[in-house]
Amino acid sequence: MEYRDACELLDADHIAVKHLFVGYARLAVAPDSPDAVNRLDIAMKICDELSVHAQIEEEIFYPALREALPADGDLLDEAEEEHAQAKALIAQIREAGAASAEVDDLVARLNRAIEHHVKEERDELFPKARTAPGMDLVALRDQLRQRQQELVSMTAA
Ligand SMILES: [Fe+2]
Ligand SMILES: [Fe+2]
Repeated sequence: MEYRDACELLDADHIAVKHLFVGYARLAVAPDSPDAVNRLDIAMKICDELSVHAQIEEEIFYPALREALPADGDLLDEAEEEHAQAKALIAQIREAGAASAEVDDLVARLNRAIEHHVKEERDELFPKARTAPGMDLVALRDQLRQRQQELVSMTAA
């Protein structure tokens, strides 16, 4: 799949993780059901995918935006603060050894936090990135993809 630019690549991650959240909610069942194992697997996959996504944004996308949009630093500060909040929830989910109502609650909170954050990226950051002078969103797409592949192979190892 060839993405048009960095924003489209990042939004594909947003869509993929949304599908995982929906899949998780669909499996919300009694903790002793066989589906409980799948549910925890999905929760861990959500954590892995969001961690890689946040890392490539923080390493590559946000710094490029900061440089191209010096007046929008507060927007990026807010985005990074939301990443920190999501990471705190991710850390709690990763500590869970089994599916439980508590993990369901954490995953639901993470879903809401990510929904809010993605909306801001889609409605504010991406349009600004696409009109910012001097942003090469195609070169950034390639950098993001390369780092993403590196991090995914490290997670799988
Ligand atoms: Fe983000
Ligand atoms: Fe994002």
